[in-house]
Amino acid sequence: MKVITIANQKGGVAKTTTTASFGYELAKRGFKVLLIDLDPQGDLSYYFNCEADDETKTMYDVLCGNANIEAVTNKISENLYLAPSDLLLAGAEQEMNKTGKEYRLKEKIDVLKNYDYIIIDTPPALGILTVNAFTATNEIIIPSNAGVFSTKAFIQLANTMQGVKKYFNPNLCIGGILITRYNPQTKISKAIRDMAEQMASRLNTKVYETYIRTAIAVEEAQYEQVVIDDYNGNSTVSQDYKTFVDEYLK
Ligand SMILES: Nc1ncnc2c1ncn2[C@@H]1O[C@H](COP(=O)(O)OP(=O)(O)O)[C@@H](O)[C@H]1O
Ligand SMILES: [Mg+2]
Repeated sequence: MKVITIANQKGGVAKTTTTASFGYELAKRGFKVLLIDLDPQGDLSYYFNCEADDETKTMYDVLCGNANIEAVTNKISENLYLAPSDLLLAGAEQEMNKTGKEYRLKEKIDVLKNYDYIIIDTPPALGILTVNAFTATNEIIIPSNAGVFSTKAFIQLANTMQGVKKYFNPNLCIGGILITRYNPQTKISKAIRDMAEQMASRLNTKVYETYIRTAIAVEEAQYEQVVIDDYNGNSTVSQDYKTFVDEYLK
C-alpha cells in the first residue's frame, strides 16, 4: 500500500484535478484506489458527486471524532473509493489541539489493508490538515503551473516538509513536480520548464517528464461532474494523465 499526497499551498494548480485523474487512471488499470479529500472546500468530493450533507459522515468525523475511514468511504466505481471532505474540517486546527494531533490521519490509514494506493488531496494551506497528510504519506507529488513558481512558496513547502520529516515521518519524500495547465505553444513554455527544474533541484527532487496541457475539457468535465476521461477520453488532458501514470509506474 502506497500513500501519496498531492500538495502545493497555492490554489488553482490542479491538485484536485490531478488527484481525480491520477486515481481514476490507476483504478482503471486494476489497482484498488482510495481518494481522501482533505480540503474543507470539498472540490474532489463534489467532482465525484459525494458532497456531504448534515447526515453524511466525512473525514471530519475521522480526524475530529471516532469514525474509521471505512465508515465514511463511498464506492465510486470498480476499484475506486472516496472518503469525502466537510466544511467543518476548516475548524480542525482548533479541534485537534491535543497531543499527537499530527498523527490522527496516519493512525486511521495504518489499519487499512485492502488498497494499493491511497491518494490525498490537500487544501491550499500548510496547516494541520496538510501536516496530517504528510505524516501519513510515503510520497508527495507537487502539481505546479506557470504562474506559481514563486520561490517563497516553494521554500515554505520545503520547510513544512522538512519539519514533518524530522519530527513525524522520517521516510517522507517528494516524488516530483508535475507541470500542469501547460501550454507548449507560448513563448514562456521553455522558461517554465527551467523554473520547474530549478525548484526541483532545491527540493532534491525531479520534474516529471510528462506535463499536463491546458484544455477546456477539464472545466467542462468538472461542470458535468464527470472525470475527464469519461467526459472525453481523447482530449489532450486525458491522454496526458495516462502518460503520467505510465511514467509514474515505470
Ligand atoms: N489541464 C488543465 N487545463 C485547463 N484547466 C485546468 C487544467 N487543470 C485544472 N484546470 C482548471 O483549473 C482550476 C483549478 O484546478 P484544481 O484542480 O481545482 O486546482 P487546485 O485543487 O490546485 O486548486 C479548475 O477550474 C480546473 O478546471
Ligand atoms: Mg483543490
